[in-house]
Amino acid sequence: MSEMNNKDDVIIQYKNDSKFKKRQNFHDKYSINKYGFRNWMFDKYKIFDGCKILELGCGNGIMWDEKYKELPQNVELVISDFSEGMCNIVKQKHLEHNNVQVEQIDIQKIPYKDETFDIVIANHMLYHVSDVDKAIEEVHRVLKNNGIFYASTLGTNGFQKYLNQKFEEFNSNMNYFNIENWSFTLKNGKEVLEKKFNNIQMDEYKDSIEISDENVLVEWIFTSVVMQNLDKNQFKGLAQHFAKDKDEKGIIHIPKQIGCFIAIKD
Ligand SMILES: C[S@@+](CC[C@H](N)C(=O)[O-])C[C@H]1O[C@@H](n2cnc3c(N)ncnc32)[C@H](O)[C@@H]1O
Repeated sequence: MSEMNNKDDVIIQYKNDSKFKKRQNFHDKYSINKYGFRNWMFDKYKIFDGCKILELGCGNGIMWDEKYKELPQNVELVISDFSEGMCNIVKQKHLEHNNVQVEQIDIQKIPYKDETFDIVIANHMLYHVSDVDKAIEEVHRVLKNNGIFYASTLGTNGFQKYLNQKFEEFNSNMNYFNIENWSFTLKNGKEVLEKKFNNIQMDEYKDSIEISDENVLVEWIFTSVVMQNLDKNQFKGLAQHFAKDKDEKGIIHIPKQIGCFIAIKD
């Protein structure tokens, strides 16, 4: 088993978007709130004409596939990730957009001067970072005064908690999805941000998962950072174990807890 913020495992996981895309497709297909988390998140961004935006840990940049056309004129957008593979994927999507730069950046060492950006975004990535305090210091440093930091993450009462409980029932030594140990969640994120920010708000997006094929759930599990090095043969019977949770219509209902912090630099 590996940890969510083990650098070597995170590098392997995100050398391209193959595993990440499978997880995205899973959530897009089986989440019951069809508004969509990315739309909900984008609605929160206070983007204005001339705004300078930095996104860190962008992954395959799917947010901007859908939203680039909605940006006001003269926005300067830097989309970044520490994975070269992810940066290459995103670069291909923005070849014709002069106001978009794609850069390979580690959030723990941002190569920009103090007070450069109006908005900094770090969605679903801070729990992968080895030194989360350093990451927040860097974000705070490159934000202008009154600049806004948006950081989405997961809560401790959602999908991971469900998976962890199922694993513990399956075999009490298996606590792969113990999100209580993660370094940046909806539960502990405020405490982390408070070291640099005074003005912090947290919002939750209501959602859950409904799924009828337990095998799809098992496939999702093996795309995750914490399971990527494990042999599937160790887990014979896991799908049947999930299937026990089916209701009379054959559906497994799984909670999700997902949301974001919005922190303003003053
Ligand atoms: C779960 S994905 C999230 C992608 C995207 N932000 C989203 O919400 O769809 C996490 C991303 O963070 C990147 N990442 C992990 N550690 C990082 C670091 N220290 N600095 C920058 N990016 C990092 C990974 O390469 C990966 O692309």
